[in-house]
Amino acid sequence: MSGPPALELRGVRACYGRIEVLHGVDLTVPVGGVLALLGPNGAGKTTTLKVACGRMRPTAGEVRLGDAPVPTRSPDGLARKGVCIIPEGRGVFPNLSVTENLRMWTYRGSVARSEVEERAFGRFPRLRDRRGQLAGTLSGGEQQMLAISRALTTNPTFLLLDEISMGLAPIVVSELYEVVAQLAAEGIAIVIVEQFVRTALGVADRAAIMAQGRIQLEGDPREVGDAVVDIYLRKASTS
Ligand SMILES: Nc1ncnc2c1ncn2[C@@H]1O[C@H](COP(=O)(O)OP(=O)(O)O)[C@@H](O)[C@H]1O
Ligand SMILES: [Mg+2]
Repeated sequence: MSGPPALELRGVRACYGRIEVLHGVDLTVPVGGVLALLGPNGAGKTTTLKVACGRMRPTAGEVRLGDAPVPTRSPDGLARKGVCIIPEGRGVFPNLSVTENLRMWTYRGSVARSEVEERAFGRFPRLRDRRGQLAGTLSGGEQQMLAISRALTTNPTFLLLDEISMGLAPIVVSELYEVVAQLAAEGIAIVIVEQFVRTALGVADRAAIMAQGRIQLEGDPREVGDAVVDIYLRKASTS
């Protein structure tokens, strides 16, 4: 991969209450690349994404964009600079229709309503057919498509996807990942946290394995794929 480091975590520590769950995380998301962040449940993947998008403040270390550290006191800072997260469990408003969900995000004003719908329906024609349907009544895969469409209204430079395949049929997962690959080809840098290791490694340019609040290994997806089983098992045998 070429180009300068884009989004970087350096020595990040993070706590819930008094319990530290990230113990010094170093991670680089290169410009226009896809990074797969893998690891067993409870490893700290979601927490890492929360820090990376500014939703959670690290207790030590820093988040950097390009050459500059992002002040952790302005939670908006990272969002304004194009870091967007699709949180675990689908961030859609269940009692609003598809169109209303898309509109919720146009108030920021950077993209016109019609443009937002065009983009969403262009990428996911299925959503056009269901534009008036309440988001809560969509299938899991459709909700995820809506969540991704909504994220795209913010013109993100970095997109952080937290387990978008959770509970979905394999065919829907491949459909979603086709879009992920397209977005990456369009130059959006993407971090995917995923339980389906093979799916994630299939679209990734880099991969990292996290366990017990630390990055255990980072490298080429193939190399990381070979090690992943070992690291998961080691975690299982020590916990
Ligand atoms: N809101 C929370 N309050 C307290 N502890 C939490 C909270 N969220 C996560 N944790 C703990 O932090 C650790 C890392 O969790 P998480 O980042 O969600 O891991 P992963 O996404 O890899 O499954 C786990 O031990 C988890 O129990
Ligand atoms: Mg998680």
